[in-house]
Parts: sequence; C-alpha cells; structure tokens
Amino acid sequence: LEAELSARVVAAATPADLEAVRVAALGKSGSISDLLKTLGQMSPDERRERGPQINGLRDRISSAIAEKKAALEAAELEAKLAAERVDLTLPAPPRRKGRVHPTMQVMDEMVAIFADMGFGLAEGPDIEDDFHNFTALNFPPKHPAREMHDTFWLPEDENGERKVLRTHTSPVQIRVMQKLNEKLPTWIANGQEPPIRVIVPGRVYRSDSDATHTPMFHQLEGLVIGRDIHMGHLKWTLDTFTKRFFETDNVVTRFRPHHFPFTEPSAEMDVQCDRSGGAVKIGEGSDWLEILGGGMVHPNVLKNCGLDPKQWQGFAFGLGVDRLGMLKYGMPDLRDMFAADVRWLEHYGFSA
Ligand code: PHE
Repeated sequence: LEAELSARVVAAATPADLEAVRVAALGKSGSISDLLKTLGQMSPDERRERGPQINGLRDRISSAIAEKKAALEAAELEAKLAAERVDLTLPAPPRRKGRVHPTMQVMDEMVAIFADMGFGLAEGPDIEDDFHNFTALNFPPKHPAREMHDTFWLPEDENGERKVLRTHTSPVQIRVMQKLNEKLPTWIANGQEPPIRVIVPGRVYRSDSDATHTPMFHQLEGLVIGRDIHMGHLKWTLDTFTKRFFETDNVVTRFRPHHFPFTEPSAEMDVQCDRSGGAVKIGEGSDWLEILGGGMVHPNVLKNCGLDPKQWQGFAFGLGVDRLGMLKYGMPDLRDMFAADVRWLEHYGFSA
C-alpha cells in the first residue's frame, strides 16, 4: 500500500490530483483510515505491533503529501510570475485624460482678470434663506418680484421657514456688507479704510430651461463699497473686464436702464456682436447681447446691512458665466453645457 500511495503522490501533477490522493488515503473512508479502524478489533499484542506500523505509514504519507503540495504551489507561482511578466517593449495603452469643463475654465479666466484689478474672493451657501436672497436685497415682502426669479423653494423646516436654492449670487453681497459693518470700527481705528472689492463666483438656480437658460447656471457677482463710488467706476470696471475677457479692444458695450430692487440706478450691459451667422462674432455687426446686470447699491440695502448710505456708496454687478463662455467659445445651446455628453466635453473642454 505504501509503495502504491507514494507513487500516486509523486505522479500528482496538479493540486487537484494531490487532493484526490489525500482523500483516497486519509479521508474518512480512505485506505489508511480503514487500517486505523482495524486497530480496535485487535488483541493488545497485535495492536502493539501493528499500531506503530500503521501510524508510521500515515505520518509518512501525510508528510509526502505536504511536501508535494508545497512543490506544486511553488511551481504554480513560478508559472504565474512568468505569464504576468511586463513586456517593457510594448507600446503604452492609450490613456483617456480628463478635461477642464468650459464653465470652470471661463470662471478661472474671469477670476484672474478681476484679481488683477484688485478684487478679492467671497463665497456663500447655495441653500439660502429668504432674508439674504430677497428681503435684505430690498425685495418687498410677498411682492411678485420674488416670483420673477422662478425660485426653487425648499420644504418648510421645523421653524416654519422655507429656504431657497439661491436664485442669484447677490445674497453674498449682504453677507459681505454685514461683515464689513462688523469690522469697520476696527478698520477705521487702524487707518484701513475701504473701498472693499470682492467678486463672488458660484452656482445659482432657477426653474427655467431653453437654449439660453438652464435650471442651474453660474454667476459672478461683483461688489465695491467705498466713500465716493459712482456709476463711472462701474462702467470702467465692466468695460475693462469685457475687453480683457474677449481679448480685444474692439468690444463695444452699452448700458441700458433697467430695474433691480437692490440697485438704483440699475442697468443691463449689452455687447455689440454679429449674430447673422451661426456663431456670434464679438466686435462687429449690429446686434446686441445682454451679458450682465448691475447698478449702484440701493440705500435700503446698505441700511439693511447696518451701513449709513450718507457715508458709504457702492456698485454691484452680476455676470452670467456660462453665457459669457458660450459667447467666447461659440457654443450654440446652453443646455449642452450640463448634459455631460463626453463627445461635447472632449470637443469644448480645455486641456488641464
Ligand atoms: N442679481 C441680478 C440677477 O441675477 C444681477 C445683478 C447683480 C444686478 C448685482 C444688479 C447688481 O439678475
């Protein structure tokens, strides 16, 4: 029996073969196990003689199997390593690279231009309360102007308050002016007088969708507060920005009177362009395209933030980031911006 089992162990070519031998010899009804069971019926003398023989057989076969198992595993690992060896002479597989989304690219360009002009950066929450989004910005209570923005209202919370997805970046004006009011006494005591200049890039939300509107879009707010700020400063700032953004001095802009509850006077700014072809051309033609709203911060808004309108004035503006991107890079439909179509993103996206 020992010779037969040893031969089978030696011949086993795979772990499965070896396992079969182990079961045949040492399994519940294996040949060695059967022999061990016969010990019970033997006379003590017989058992004294056969016991060590059978146990010795079991031990030798067990260790032969264990040795063979280790050898088979080593061979298997060897084969696997050989098969997986990296061939450094093969060409590298193509790598799909991510790209910068046009909106983020445009946002970065805008931030860089304003940073050059001395503007700092401020941010606020996407989920706003009614006070910052409307009331403090001089929207009369229950006035239809609140609906003008196609507001997304959130469900009432436990205090009976309904938050909104901010409809514009203007609520951050309030947050900035409140903080300014807090810090003014120290600043003035230290001889650090405003003007303060901030821009606020961010997402805004309105329930609206067509070729030039999406329910989520991006604005860049600007706010300057100082002792004798006037419309001329606003116009220069925006003209300078527009020329740098479109990378040409040929940009023609115009201010059109408009109404916003939080600025007085208010204006919208258009850029002259040619829309007769498919793509919009800046700096030629006789069409006008609205790119922003702005004006002088309304005295009521200053008061709502604790600032005295007799001492402080300011201007504010809000630019449509995505819309400016469409204009600069010639995209026909705003909705494509957020459709997450990889082909579109690969076409219009920017190399990182
Ligand atoms: N918040 C206005 C809008 O979303 C734009 C604006 C900003 C107008 C600042 C005036 C001053 O339409």
